[in-house]
Amino acid sequence: MPHTQDLLVTRTPFGSAPDGTAVELFSFANARGTQCAVMSYGAAIVSLQVRDRSGSLGDVVLGCDSLAGYLAQPAYLGAVIGRYANRIRHGRFSLDGRTYQLATNAGSHALHGGIRGFDKVVWRAEPYQSRWGVGLVCEHTSPDGEESYPGGLRVTVAYALTDSDELVVDYSAEASAPTPLNLTQHSYFNLAGGGDVLGHEVLIDAEAFTPIDAALIPTGEIRPVDGTPFDFRKRTALGARINSEDPQLAFAGGYDHNFVLRRSGPGDHRAASVREPVTGRTLDVFTTEPGMQLYTGNFLNGSIIGKGGQRYGHRAGFCLETQHYPDSPNRPEFPSTILQPGQEYRSRTIFRFGVAH
Ligand code: GLA
Repeated sequence: MPHTQDLLVTRTPFGSAPDGTAVELFSFANARGTQCAVMSYGAAIVSLQVRDRSGSLGDVVLGCDSLAGYLAQPAYLGAVIGRYANRIRHGRFSLDGRTYQLATNAGSHALHGGIRGFDKVVWRAEPYQSRWGVGLVCEHTSPDGEESYPGGLRVTVAYALTDSDELVVDYSAEASAPTPLNLTQHSYFNLAGGGDVLGHEVLIDAEAFTPIDAALIPTGEIRPVDGTPFDFRKRTALGARINSEDPQLAFAGGYDHNFVLRRSGPGDHRAASVREPVTGRTLDVFTTEPGMQLYTGNFLNGSIIGKGGQRYGHRAGFCLETQHYPDSPNRPEFPSTILQPGQEYRSRTIFRFGVAH
């Protein structure tokens, strides 16, 4: 039987992590009947049921039916990513005159926090109610030296669902020594609820992006999107140019690139707006972050068994990972990702759902 914490957030057992720690699933809804579920493993979004044009609820995020499914997949489905989202070249960087060698897990590079990133730990989680609405707050203490990152780190991620169908994700952190930090949310969206995402029409408020090399790591260049398949300043279907001959798309087999957002910093700036023409569902993403990775599920190949036994095929979901730019610890010209002790890290991303008629 589900154990009801209060009338608004339901918490149910969701199995045990490989180290035996109990995992829980937290479910909550708003006045409109929009529903969200988040588990304490990876502080991951497990489901998001939003209405389409005709009022039917449908799950718009990729995921699994059980914890075992999540433990078996390598795609970071729905999880919070840390300490450092995306890649750090050779897992190496220098800070205050010392060189650090992180755990490497993507060829010779560090990806998404290393071998056991924040997506693979059980967070302490409690229901909470903020001024936004109900949800939960997840907390993780990352010890000094975890995945070879310097300094201890206390991180919280709070999720809240508003009555206007916004999922607000608030991150905060404090470190005991200077450390690189770059947190993001790795949900794969599919507003149609199935099939590939190539028909989704996307607008990204970016005049430039950070080109990558064959290792999918920024070269340091900031390139205008003008005249490239990366120009989403006008709403364009994800599939319109994804297969065009372009060396940048070829490196990644699609989009897997960081966009330099036109506006960032205090206040919630619209980074992206997505519309799915068949169901009419829309998703707008607002953030304080300076960058956003558009990833079109290029590595999905049908091997992950997802919800209801469906296999997630090539480009079955897309991610909009608000973030600082990849490999910033090695790029002094990029906005800094170093958190100093005594400083409070704060970051916010809002996923707002709606329908276009
Ligand atoms: C991010 C990366 C991709 C890939 C996915 C997870 O989006 O940029 O290259 O690693 O995560 O599969």
